[in-house]
Amino acid sequence: MRPVQLLALAPLLFVLVSCLNRPAENGNTALSDSVYLELGDQLVAQTFDTLRNALTTAIGSKGFAYAVAFCDENAYPFTTYYQEAGITIRRASDRPRNPQNKADSLETALLNEFRATRSTARLVRTPTEVHYIKPILVQGMCLNCHGLPGEEIKPETLAAINERYAADSATGYKEGDLRGLWHVVFKKNAEH
Ligand code: HEC
Repeated sequence: MRPVQLLALAPLLFVLVSCLNRPAENGNTALSDSVYLELGDQLVAQTFDTLRNALTTAIGSKGFAYAVAFCDENAYPFTTYYQEAGITIRRASDRPRNPQNKADSLETALLNEFRATRSTARLVRTPTEVHYIKPILVQGMCLNCHGLPGEEIKPETLAAINERYAADSATGYKEGDLRGLWHVVFKKNAEH
């Protein structure tokens, strides 16, 4: 991650960490839904921008087959940075390319809900965590790596995908399809 991007994130994380560590008042430390929705939106936007910039640069310099290596959000240092603030961020899908991104039961339920309702981001609260979940839709550009093999996905791109992801099931999508979701977890401090 470029230093300028880390600097842009710093104030947000500072506010967030102060909020999550605020002493209990009347036994209730929960921030309002709108605060978590706003934080989730900003974290996802920042992560998406970083991924998209890296991907666009890689595609521009050496093409889609080369760019396959730049689509893993865990390859970027911000994931460690967030974890220090008690936040995890990941993408999940019921037809994953990377098996680590396979949707768990909560994520599967929400994917089905998003598919039926076409709704936007929402929160799920548990006693110790707040989950922010946002649908990810397929855009035209994504078809180069998630569309029809042999037609939208060029043979050399397909070869690069198959080399890294033996169990890939993330092809055959159409523009506008639900591809997966962003899942941000805010862990509440256990002492509160
Ligand atoms: C250059 C090829 C490429 C392009 C273009 C691309 N992806 Fe991917 N995508 C991948 C690869 C490779 C992975 C596996 C990353 C990993 O290991 O976590 C992936 C993973 C994902 C995942 C995580 C779930 C999973 O299947 O592992 C989502 C969601 C996703 N892509 C959505 C998109 C969307 C939306 C677009 C368009 C805006 C897009 N991708 C464009 C190659 C691409």
